[in-house]
Amino acid sequence: MTTADTALAVHSGTPVRDHDLPWPTWPVAAPGASAALETVLKSSSWAITSPYQGELQERRFARQFAAYTGTAHCVPTDHGSNALVIALESLGLEPAAPVLVPALTWTASATAVFRAGLVPVLVDVDPATGCLDAAAVAAETEAAAVIAVHWACTMADVPALTAAAEPLGASVIEDAAQAHGASWLGRPAGSLGAAGCFSMQHSKVLTCGEGGAVVTDDGERAGLMEELRADSRRYRTDVVRGELPLKESATTMGANFCLSEFAAALLCEQLAILDEQHEVRGRNYATLERLLEEVPGVRLPYRNPAQDRLSLYEVPLIFDPLPKTNAWAADALTAELGMRAYPPRPPLSRSPLLAPWRKSTLAPLAEQFKARNAGRRFPGAEYLASHAVLLHHSAFLGPEEDMVDIAAAAAKVARHLGAAA
Ligand SMILES: Cc1ncc(COP(=O)(O)O)c(C=O)c1O
Repeated sequence: MTTADTALAVHSGTPVRDHDLPWPTWPVAAPGASAALETVLKSSSWAITSPYQGELQERRFARQFAAYTGTAHCVPTDHGSNALVIALESLGLEPAAPVLVPALTWTASATAVFRAGLVPVLVDVDPATGCLDAAAVAAETEAAAVIAVHWACTMADVPALTAAAEPLGASVIEDAAQAHGASWLGRPAGSLGAAGCFSMQHSKVLTCGEGGAVVTDDGERAGLMEELRADSRRYRTDVVRGELPLKESATTMGANFCLSEFAAALLCEQLAILDEQHEVRGRNYATLERLLEEVPGVRLPYRNPAQDRLSLYEVPLIFDPLPKTNAWAADALTAELGMRAYPPRPPLSRSPLLAPWRKSTLAPLAEQFKARNAGRRFPGAEYLASHAVLLHHSAFLGPEEDMVDIAAAAAKVARHLGAAA
């Protein structure tokens, strides 16, 4: 009897996987995490604005993460959203300048644009990858910047986007919140644009609960971003024990988006285990790719050969044909596996989370947002938002047998959706 002949677990059939068999949990605390946190706890230095006691954890993390991303500078922040805000502010654009944002991404990629005093212009994504493609950017007539989001587990082609943005005079900011450690022709995510923004929020592959960072090769931009995230202050080069490590340089007006010393210390430890975790997830993904090759009705996103290293944040299983909703497919998969599978958020064009008109201070930008986005269409984003079912990367941290279960569950759901002959 094939899996198609058995009832789905959502219909009270026997699930593919025994629900007593646990999945890996997330986050995974690195071996040195507790000790690192305790060291900060017992120090008199809980913030970069504490009186100086020796090298800040935040500076240590910045050094390590710049090296990890192959960039010259890293400015840690309290959230990925604020990393995007300061990266955009560092471009020094005209008020209300248009910024291209892919329609399929977390709302912060667009809300950060408003918060920087700019106007998001939503652009469709390539349904094969979920990312902006260069042709879509080249078709635009106006843009001051482009947010290149690396979506779920695929990378946007930033060199091609940069070439397409150049005639518009637009800079490319990478939103690598979902792509720590991915690489494109040997170049790490975050190092390919004018600046690369990361989130270290709980669900991300590198996490301290809430955190973020911007990386760049441009020293001037890095200095500006230091000020933009520390109330107009930069690090002192002549710091003295017991005094504040920041000086009021005030070449621009910043706000406080600083990462705490606890978060920075934790990130140093988590970064040390990130590549091991990437290796396990990458191996499991390759197994799943192989297992799904022969399965009709369900596939993984297109993997561009230029992306030579994967960073799985979420893995989209794309069901096609799909005579029911992907929310139904997600529930069916969840019931088979005993692990949460979920549909992507709707495209930003119809997201309830992107509603600048609900904030009175954004009214002028909201009007321009409406005008600039009127009549735009997003068939690529709509396709993925209605055909993909996502699995969190933690599902890829276990043994290879877990992939056999995922593939069997996906095959069973696909057969029930009528993919098989
Ligand atoms: C693509 C993308 N951009 C930006 C962010 C914002 O990061 P944070 O939640 O750390 O502010 C996220 C977080 O989920 C994200 O996925």
